[in-house]
Amino acid sequence: MLPEIITPEITAPKIEPLFTAEAIHERVKELADEITADYQNEEPVLVGVLKGSFIFLADLARETNLHALQIDFMGVESYKKGTKSSRQPIITKDLSIDISDHHVLLVEDIVDTGYSLQTLMKILSVRSAKSIKTCALLSKPDRREVEVPIDFLGFTIPDEFVVGYGLDFNQKYRELPYIGILPKELQGQT
Ligand code: PRP
Repeated sequence: MLPEIITPEITAPKIEPLFTAEAIHERVKELADEITADYQNEEPVLVGVLKGSFIFLADLARETNLHALQIDFMGVESYKKGTKSSRQPIITKDLSIDISDHHVLLVEDIVDTGYSLQTLMKILSVRSAKSIKTCALLSKPDRREVEVPIDFLGFTIPDEFVVGYGLDFNQKYRELPYIGILPKELQGQT
C-alpha cells in the first residue's frame, strides 16, 4: 500500500491593507482635481518615476481633466537591498521628450529619505522647464534625510515598510490593488 501523501497547506502571507483600493481611488481623484485646477490652460508634462509610480500615474492621469497632457518617465533606483536606502539613487532611464518651456509635474509613489526626488529635481532643474512641481501619493516624514518640496500629497504615513499599488519589496507585491504594511517576518526574505 502506498504511503499517504500529505500536502502541506501553503498559506499566503497576510498583508493587511493600510489604504484600501477604494480609499486610494478617492484620494487620487481629489489630487487629480487639485492638479487640474492648478494647471488650467497649461500643457504640463507628467513625469512618472519608475518603477513605483506606474499604477499611480496611470490612475492620476485618467482622473485629471486637462486639455493637453504629455506623459513621460524617469527611472530611479534607491533601494539596493531590502528596506535600506542606498542614499545614492541611480538613474536607470531618462526622459524621451524635451521639457524646455513646459510645466513639469514629477509623480512619485513615495517620498522616504528624499534622495530620489532631490536627485531628479537637480537633473531636471537645468533643462529650462517653465516650472517643476512634485506629486507623491505617500510621504514618510519620519525617514526624511533631505528636504524636498511635495506640492500635491496623497497620504502621510508612519515609518512602516509599505507595498502594493506599485510599491515593492525586492520587486514583489507591486500588483496588489491596495497598499499594505509588509509584515516583519517577510522583511528578511529576498
Ligand atoms: C522608491 C520609490 C521612490 C523612492 C523613494 O523607489 O519609488 O522613487 O524609493 O525613496 P527615497 O525618498 O528614500 O529616495 P525604488 O528605489 O525602491 O525603486 P522602484 O520605484 O523601482 O521600486
